[in-house]
Amino acid sequence: MSDQRQTTFQRPARHFAPHSHWMNDPNGLFYHEGVYHLYFQYNPYGIGHGNMSWGHATSRDLVTWEEHEVAILCDDQADIFSGSIVVDEHNTSGLGVGGTAPVIALYTAAATDGRNQSQALAYSTDGGMSFTKFAGNPVLDRGSRDFRDPKVFRYAGPAGNYWVMVAVEAADHQVVFYRSENLIDWELLSDFGPQAAMGGVWECPDLFELPVQGTGEKKWVLLVSLNPGGVAGGSGTQYFIGDFDGTHFIPESPRPAWPGTDYDQLSAGFWLDWGRDFYAGVSFHGLPDNQRTLLAWMSNWDYARQLPHGGWRGSMSAARTLDLVRADGAVQIRQRLLTGASETAARRGLQGRAGSSLRLDLGSPTLINLQLDMSQLPQDGTPSTVRFYREDGSLISTVHVEVGQIRHERPGGLVDHDLYASTQRMPLPQPGQALEVDLLLDHGSVEILAAGGLRSLTDQLTGENVAHHAALDLGHHADIRVTALDSSGDTVLGTGLLA
Ligand code: FRU
Repeated sequence: MSDQRQTTFQRPARHFAPHSHWMNDPNGLFYHEGVYHLYFQYNPYGIGHGNMSWGHATSRDLVTWEEHEVAILCDDQADIFSGSIVVDEHNTSGLGVGGTAPVIALYTAAATDGRNQSQALAYSTDGGMSFTKFAGNPVLDRGSRDFRDPKVFRYAGPAGNYWVMVAVEAADHQVVFYRSENLIDWELLSDFGPQAAMGGVWECPDLFELPVQGTGEKKWVLLVSLNPGGVAGGSGTQYFIGDFDGTHFIPESPRPAWPGTDYDQLSAGFWLDWGRDFYAGVSFHGLPDNQRTLLAWMSNWDYARQLPHGGWRGSMSAARTLDLVRADGAVQIRQRLLTGASETAARRGLQGRAGSSLRLDLGSPTLINLQLDMSQLPQDGTPSTVRFYREDGSLISTVHVEVGQIRHERPGGLVDHDLYASTQRMPLPQPGQALEVDLLLDHGSVEILAAGGLRSLTDQLTGENVAHHAALDLGHHADIRVTALDSSGDTVLGTGLLA
């Protein structure tokens, strides 16, 4: 490696990472009786992608997690690829015992010889702690080698009341829709795609309905991860807004298929995130109607397998709640970060004038909220920037707030991989008087939400030491709120004007 600085891998404080070994996609997210369950693509035996099984963790606040035993283990026939979980309240599957609702996992059984991917079922009668593979597996086999990532939900609408599965024919850039009465027998409803970005395989779909704030209208959202071909390069997640009539998904504005990786073309699409490291995001089952919370894997297949590690490899994004708003003439997803910031956390409010520079001594992890006055262009055209530094003064990352876009520059640092050092661009919605930007900085990542959550950019900062201070150079007048998120909540945030 070119950079000889000593690295101490610091575990993320506000994000889930397994105690050891490899992790990728979130799987089987469900909420039940006050507990959030997160399963995840996991290699119980090593630091690389392989022996794929479902690890398991639980949380009551989506910020602090307790890791449990592996929930579903691979065997010599098949890896346990991504999938979802539902609580079968009315025991439609008949797999419940003693009146307790079974917890049903539908996952992709990926044959170890690579020749087939089919959907399989495992059930739990102890609330999701341990699972038994169903004797009648697979429950859905199309004879395909790229049929995967089932996400199941209960549809209740004009067309009836039944289970729906969305999955992908990954190499065909298609989402496929199935229905079932009992989670075991599945009948094909329809398919969707190819459309919009298709520069790689389609993976990990999700489909749900949400109200459009302030309109009384409801819309369906179809999330489609794709890899490569994402807007920031490699893995990315696009979304479609439309209607689901119980059989078909009908997009509000159909888009042609874009096979390539041309940024100008891709950036005309709808992306859940504009960074390098936000993939395979799916939502929790079991939350009240109209409430959606999502987690994504904070990495990118471009380099995930080669990143330096501290005994574990991979972490999840911060949980986000999603809603819909109409902005710039289209219904769009708006996200809010769940940071766990408590009322007692050390918080400091500051005001900065355009042209001034501020230094913040950070108690990492930290949430920085900026309210920028965009009514006047910076006098000399200089944008506002936030730079994060280690204690030795070396740069971790730079966020530039410019006219019409935010840019995040991530130097290579300790990561010896061609595709890691990169600059991500996120176009902003039509300019208003004020721009709100949230920066959530944890050990190993930065999540940037802008324009009230209409835009999100997530980049991991792996292998990097803890951010020690930040420097703000303001091109705009700004209100700045800094919140320390460390567990004690009493970190002192030193602030002062730089020369
Ligand atoms: C997405 C993915 C899924 C697959 C899983 C395998 O990152 O490729 O399509 O089920 O990872 O680990």
